[in-house]
Parts: sequence; structure tokens; C-alpha cells
Amino acid sequence: MRQAGAVAARFLARRADRVLMNTYGPRTLAFSRGRGVWAWDSSGKKYLDLLGGVAVNSLGHNHPAVRRAVESQARKIIHASNLYLIEPQIALAERLVRETFADRIFFCNSGAEANEAALKLARKYFYAKGERRDQLVSFQNSFHGRTTGALALTAQEKYQKPFRPLIGVETALYNDLSDASRKITNRTAAVFVELVQGEGGMETATPTFLAGLRRICSKHGAILVYDEVQTGNARTGELYAYMHYGARLAPDLMTTAKGLAGGLPIAALLARKPFSEAFEAGDHAATFGGNFLVCAAGCAVFDILSSPAFLKMVHRRAEFLWSRLRRIETRHADKIEGLRGIGLMAGIRLKNPHSSRALRDRLHARRILAGMSGDRVLRLTPPLIISEREIEIGLRAIDEEIEKIR
Ligand SMILES: Cc1ncc(COP(=O)(O)O)c(C=O)c1O
Repeated sequence: MRQAGAVAARFLARRADRVLMNTYGPRTLAFSRGRGVWAWDSSGKKYLDLLGGVAVNSLGHNHPAVRRAVESQARKIIHASNLYLIEPQIALAERLVRETFADRIFFCNSGAEANEAALKLARKYFYAKGERRDQLVSFQNSFHGRTTGALALTAQEKYQKPFRPLIGVETALYNDLSDASRKITNRTAAVFVELVQGEGGMETATPTFLAGLRRICSKHGAILVYDEVQTGNARTGELYAYMHYGARLAPDLMTTAKGLAGGLPIAALLARKPFSEAFEAGDHAATFGGNFLVCAAGCAVFDILSSPAFLKMVHRRAEFLWSRLRRIETRHADKIEGLRGIGLMAGIRLKNPHSSRALRDRLHARRILAGMSGDRVLRLTPPLIISEREIEIGLRAIDEEIEKIR
């Protein structure tokens, strides 16, 4: 059976090589079924999913609320067009407006697209005011997506190099206020920042840094954009990560995606007045953006994620995860440089840069799915419904595998 699974995966890989572009590198696992934090490959082998589709499967695999919403919506209508009113889209926007700083929402399909929309909204806002502001600022090791505007904001050489020239973006050092205050000027249209750098090593914005950014942006009239594509939707134990820092530090614009519809492709740009009013008819659009199916799933997921009882549970599970991670850190102080992240978005940074990827691969061999953040950090973004027992199973394996590192 086991061998049959490996053969089936190799066969799939050969088929993929013949017809798919090579954007994801070699892939050896293929899943055919999932439930909760568990996923099964084609030969029936069971994996503990501590990556959650890279922070997408917020309610785990095959959650009944997502399934019911999709099935019931699919029986009625899946897609019409944004030429017409879409009730579930309005219902999801009402929920986002009710629970956040935002006054208006624009829906699209991916994190990169949401950041493109934010970029355009910022430009349009100043254009409409007749102000010539074309400068953008983002931070070292950021990740904002792969489309050319979002890529220009992604301040990592390895992603940008083959695609230059890109639009000009100033790069400032993360968590370094004095650098940010040099780079942000009265020519700056918008400043994009992640509250946890999900792809860039899981560094977290300090309260002082964020308060400083808010202050500098307000002083210069620059638009402050939080990219909560990954940190949003209860991932960090608050509905949105900015809520850890207090309402005072709310952004002007925010982008979110990943876990918002529990696995369906959706993203949103959230904006407060007056920025939310800058787009006029014809300025921006997305054919599939906020269609019936994704928004029906989004409403069902959002109702669960935003309930105080659910958020309290995520918070408790996160405390449990961090208490166990700290034990591992203490036990392996010779190998672990530090822990990164907040809530159920956690990273283990190893001292030896070559060990992290090997650790991830060894976990895969033990049927535990984990990811990488940058080259050095093992990334854990499990479904938010993970139990303490499942956390124990995963962390015991991580502990044992770190023990084996020489
Ligand atoms: C913070 C952040 N922004 C943007 C993106 C891009 O999202 P997508 O892959 O949906 O375009 C990601 C994806 O990992 C992300 O983590």
C-alpha cells in the first residue's frame, strides 16, 4: 500500500512535469482527502497538517460549515458578475465593516490582488486631490505577493531580481523607526507593512515600531496599509493582528485573504474614510471578486472566526502551543536561535541555517506537514481548530527531530 502511494505520487509528478510550468519546484506529496487537522494521501497515509494550506484552512479540512455553505450556494447560483448585486458579498462586507476599522470593502481573489488594489486606491486618492505623491515604502524581508506591483513592494532580492525594472519602492528596515522616519516623507503615498513577516522569517512588529509608523504616516499624510493577508482572520488570536496593538493603531487600509473563506480563493481590501471613497466606477474591478460561492463560504467562516468564544479558544490553544514551544527552546538552546510569531502563527529559528529545511523534510517523512518562512525558520500555521492533543503530537515529533540534529 505504502509503495503503491509512492508510485502514484511519482506518476502524478511525471504528469505534472509534462503539463505544468515549474513554479513550485519538485513536489512529492499528493493529498486526496482531509478532515480537521488531518490530510490523507492517495495511498491512505495520514498526515498531521501543521501548515494549514499555508494559513488558509482556518477551520481545518472539510469543515461542515464551509461544506454546507458551498453546497447550499452551489445549488442556487455560483457566479453572476459584479455587474449585478451579490447578496453574500454585501453580507460579508457588512460583517467586515462591523468588526473592523473599515467603512468600505473591495473583494478580489488573492493576497497579491488585494495589495494591487490598495496600491491603486492610494494612487487614486492623491490623484483625485491633485497632489503629486508617487512614492511607496515597504520593509526589508517583506512579502506582499507576486504580481508586479505587489512584487515591487516585496523587498526581497530573490523574488525581485529577474523581473526588474519594477515600479519604484523605498525599502526601510523593519522594526527600525529611525530608518522609517528617513524614508517616509511628504512625497510618500503609502506605507505597506506586515504585522508578522509571514514569508520573511516571522519577525513581529513591535508596538513601538507600529505606534511610530502610525505617527509618522499621520504627520506626513501618508496612507498606512497593513498587509494582513496571512495574519488576519483570527490567525494570531485576535480577529486581525492589529487588534493586539489597540484601536489607536488601526491602519488606513488593510488587505486580507488566506483564511477568510476557509480554503476558497478570496481576498479583500478594507479601507476607512476618506480613502474608501477614492475609487469611482470604472477605477478597479475583478471578474470573480466576491462571487456568490466564495462569499457564502466567507460569511459562514467569518461568523465562526469572529465569535468571542472561538477567539478565546484560539487564544488558549496558542498559549498552549507557545508554552510547549518554549520548553523545546529551552531543551535545545544549543540549536534554536529563537521563537518568532504570535498566536497560531509560530516560527522556530534554528542556529544552523542548513538545518531548518532538513528539519521540515524529516517532519514530512514522519507525516507532519510544516513549512518554511525565509531560509531559516520552520513555520507552523495549523488550522485554528487544532486541539491540545494534536499540538502535543506535532511538537513531540519536532522536539525529537531537533534532538537528532547534529
Ligand atoms: C503577507 C502576505 N501578503 C501577500 C501574500 C500574497 O498572497 P497570494 O499568494 O494570495 O497572492 C502573501 C502570501 O503568502 C502573504 O503572506
